[in-house]
Amino acid sequence: MVKICCIGAGYVGGPTMAVIALKCPEIQVAVVDISVPRISAWNSDTLPIYEPGLDEVVKKCRGKNLFFSSDVEKHVSEADIVFVSVNTPTKTQGLGAGKAADLTYWESAARMIADVSKSNKIVVEKSTVPVKTAEAIEKILTHNSKGINFQILSNPEFLAEGTAIQDLFEPDRVLIGGRETPEGQKAIKALRDVYGHWVPMDRIICTNLWSAELSKLAANAFLAQRISSVNAMSALCEATGADVSQVSHAVGKDTRIGPKFLNASVGFGGSCFQKDILNLVYICECNGLPEVANYWKQVIKVNDYQKTRFVNRIVSSMFNTVSGKKIAILGFAFKKDTGDTRETPAIDVCKGLLGDKAMLSIYDPQVSEEQIQRDLSMNKFDWDHPVHLQPTSPSSMKQVSVVWDAYAATKDAHGICILTEWDEFKTLDYQKIYDNMQKPAFVFDGRNIVDVAKLREIGFIVYSIGKPLDEWLKDMPAVA
Ligand code: UDX
Ligand code: ADP
Repeated sequence: MVKICCIGAGYVGGPTMAVIALKCPEIQVAVVDISVPRISAWNSDTLPIYEPGLDEVVKKCRGKNLFFSSDVEKHVSEADIVFVSVNTPTKTQGLGAGKAADLTYWESAARMIADVSKSNKIVVEKSTVPVKTAEAIEKILTHNSKGINFQILSNPEFLAEGTAIQDLFEPDRVLIGGRETPEGQKAIKALRDVYGHWVPMDRIICTNLWSAELSKLAANAFLAQRISSVNAMSALCEATGADVSQVSHAVGKDTRIGPKFLNASVGFGGSCFQKDILNLVYICECNGLPEVANYWKQVIKVNDYQKTRFVNRIVSSMFNTVSGKKIAILGFAFKKDTGDTRETPAIDVCKGLLGDKAMLSIYDPQVSEEQIQRDLSMNKFDWDHPVHLQPTSPSSMKQVSVVWDAYAATKDAHGICILTEWDEFKTLDYQKIYDNMQKPAFVFDGRNIVDVAKLREIGFIVYSIGKPLDEWLKDMPAVA
């Protein structure tokens, strides 16, 4: 029986291994993590991450051929294939600080694999890593190998949160990079056979190691660039009276461009886009390509501009001050259908409003109060360290309250900011909300989900990203 072990039971490792276990009943899959609470949660009825469809998959396989354990060394030593899916935060100190990936967790995982291994293994990079990490890992393993043969593969994961299970069931492609030696090709085939249980062979792309590593960074950079492009257009739409949704629709009809990923928003978030682009920028700089580095840097700059622009719109619309005013924040997760807040634009928007002394009342259907408080007090790159290494949650900030219902959040508020596109925000009783708010009542829709005309009819002053401006807003200075 083939045994797989995955180091790191996070957003990538957990769902990916659960689907491998479901699709390959004859393979035994163990997911291990240094975080004991995280493993206990995977073994409980309340999984540590919220992902539609995940519960069912885990329930079907857990205890049969899917196991979650904190006994990292035992499962690694027994495995034929070891996936590494640990954190790769951005470095905060030393060479490349603020840009380069911090490979501390990766390196310690690699050294541990070398230490405990007694048989040959295929080691698979699953976390996104800088190009040529595989080479570094290969060196660590072979220099500590005690005669054991390690084959390194790069198998980047392209799943998006909120649709992880569907993405894993029907991936656009599976990418496997390996050495061009006979041993390397044999390892590629072994991993291809695992995915071959449910993924058509023509969707499994095999490349060399570096192409696989770079493809992941490139794919995320291209996706983020699309959002920054449409967000840049949204600013121009507001200035000229065009409607960004109409522009996106018209542009997306071109089959060479395509309709997906063209929704203007308050900015992109998530654990990957910014981190991977910073990484790409650093690699370009290290390779003497400053023009290429600056090109990609601009994608992040536009994203930051979009968040600042949104905050400025709010403050300037509300008579240039939000000091002491209650602002309802609807949605805190970086997108709908996830409880994940890593790099969510809500953090920057809330911090901007707090800087102007607003009183925030926050509601998100999946994010806990503790998480929100921690996010609003955390330093820039601390979010990507395991929870046990993050600062403990501070005592509640006075300006922030977290409530469990959109109606409570908006009661007596001066304004509402929609920061995540949760479906439930589309069907709220906005008349009831309006009646319970201070007047004039404002809605700032950072996701373009509300019916602007209907809300204006009720009496709201509405700002919706990239849409023709409310008469009220036209007279207000807004640009960052
Ligand atoms: C992304 C990639 O899609 C995935 O392939 C990779 O493996 C990991 O990074 P994820 O971060 O989970 O996945 O979410 P994604 O759906 O890509 O959204 C990222 C951010 O962009 C979110 O904040 C989302 O709200 C925003 N977004 C997305 C927009 O603002 N507009 C869009 O049109 C699409
Ligand atoms: P991702 O979104 O890439 O899955 P997460 O932060 O959700 O990232 O998950 C990474 C997991 O890896 C965390 O649960 C963390 O505790 C775990 N981890 C980090 N280093 C190690 C290690 N050396 N051994 C085992 N688990 C580790």
